[in-house]
Amino acid sequence: MNQPNPKPREQWGTRMGLILAMAANAVGLGNFLRFPVQCANNGGGAFMIPYFVAFILLGIPLMWIEWGIGRFGGKYGHGTTPGMFHYLWKHPLAKYVGAIGLMIPFALVIYYNYIVSWTLAYSVFSFTGKYSNILNFQGMADFLAAYQGKVSNSYFPSVATAFLFFCITHFCMMWIVSHGVSKGIEQLAKIAMPLIIIFGVLLLLRVLFLGTPDPKFPANNIANGFGFIWNPDFSMLKQSKVWLAATGQIFFTLSVGFGAIQTYASYLKPKDDVVLSGLATCATNEFCEVILGGSIAIPVTVAFFGLASTQAIAAGGAFDLGFFALPVIFQKMAMGGLFGTIWFFLLFLAGITSSVAMAQPMMAFLQEEFKMTRKTSAWILGTMTFFFTLPVIFFLKHGFLNEIDFWIGTFGLVVFAIIEVILFIWVFGGENAWTEINSGADIRLPKFVLPIMKYVTLAYLVILMIFWFIQDGWNVLTMKGVTAVDYPYIWFARFMLVGIGACMVFLVRIAWQKRHVIQQRVPQ
Ligand code: TRP
Repeated sequence: MNQPNPKPREQWGTRMGLILAMAANAVGLGNFLRFPVQCANNGGGAFMIPYFVAFILLGIPLMWIEWGIGRFGGKYGHGTTPGMFHYLWKHPLAKYVGAIGLMIPFALVIYYNYIVSWTLAYSVFSFTGKYSNILNFQGMADFLAAYQGKVSNSYFPSVATAFLFFCITHFCMMWIVSHGVSKGIEQLAKIAMPLIIIFGVLLLLRVLFLGTPDPKFPANNIANGFGFIWNPDFSMLKQSKVWLAATGQIFFTLSVGFGAIQTYASYLKPKDDVVLSGLATCATNEFCEVILGGSIAIPVTVAFFGLASTQAIAAGGAFDLGFFALPVIFQKMAMGGLFGTIWFFLLFLAGITSSVAMAQPMMAFLQEEFKMTRKTSAWILGTMTFFFTLPVIFFLKHGFLNEIDFWIGTFGLVVFAIIEVILFIWVFGGENAWTEINSGADIRLPKFVLPIMKYVTLAYLVILMIFWFIQDGWNVLTMKGVTAVDYPYIWFARFMLVGIGACMVFLVRIAWQKRHVIQQRVPQ
């Protein structure tokens, strides 16, 4: 699976650019929309305990493992997991197992990027004042439902506006990846990351100075909002759902278990540092999540609507705080239109930098394994993802997106993470993995990290998978609570996922058949 003289691979331009790109990969809608909702739904401050436990025992170790696997694969000219696993586990099946690492980011981008397009649309709506006469929560809910094409009302007659914004966002994403790793993705991150932080801090400052917006309700104030996030209610820790939610959030927000970090890491030079840079990525993500993401949506909603309502709103769904509650709140503030524009544009920047990270594995695969040019790969990938997103857009109301999200964004990544740890630490070998991660490192990892990766991280993952399956998996699998009307759509979603998986396996097979001379090349 390798050529005697492989073309030199792309590389990151600068170390700063690399860290910004990795951070931009991790920082996304998960930090600003998903985190606050998960936190509010799972006991506020109590959520933070399992959250940080998972961060330390799963998040950081997996980040190092994925950087390690990625840089290792890059040395052999492979930016995706089929090629990487092929070298970790010298077995004919390895490359097919690696196909999961192509399928997950591909299936993710087809719905994630659609959601990113909503944030662009809402940023424009905030700017033009399209929703400025809607002053209550229900009004905003109707607005979003019509935008998504779930209902038709005076705000939007059809899903056409959403479709238009999707096309724009899709074009932006493909345009960026078609410019390559250092000229496209890295450049974007260099602009977007600082802007995300500046916008986030601006909103944070605005929130801090809100005080008690309505003196008639003295309990609804900013201090109580922060109190909700930071005061742990220990009794919640007895519930397994809190642990599952916190762990799921760590995976999602750090982008680990998806097959995407490996691709970015494959563009490192063989002696580039992994340990400190991986840690810096984690730290930047947590700053954007806990400090910025946590300080905006929840405290502001508590200040305006009170604690009980905030929890009720968050229970409604992952987007309710960001898309329903915040716009209403902005209407009540001076210069609300401006803050609304900033909020949604911040989400757009955070989102699009993650979308390109999801698209890159498939780009790398087409370029490296099929020797396609960047332009051809971008056209093929752009067309494929475009068509696969159509059912997500048009069948949204039938639960299409949620179904894919469960199998890919909750369950699939745990399975994939288990596979990675087994292949890297157990099959490739603990000592080899350790040398691989530490080579070129700016700081040395303490020795106890290896047994953590080998036993604790793995055991944690397996337990998690079992609990997940018992708690949610079975219900999703048997379609509990799904109405008869939605049945065919859910089946369609599953069929599509299986189809995508089969396509990936097939592509890997053709790629490997194309070169039957498989010879070992010593990495430089
Ligand atoms: N971490 C991203 C966020 O917080 C989402 C994400 C999950 C992601 N998996 C990914 C981004 C893979 C890029 C690649 O929104």
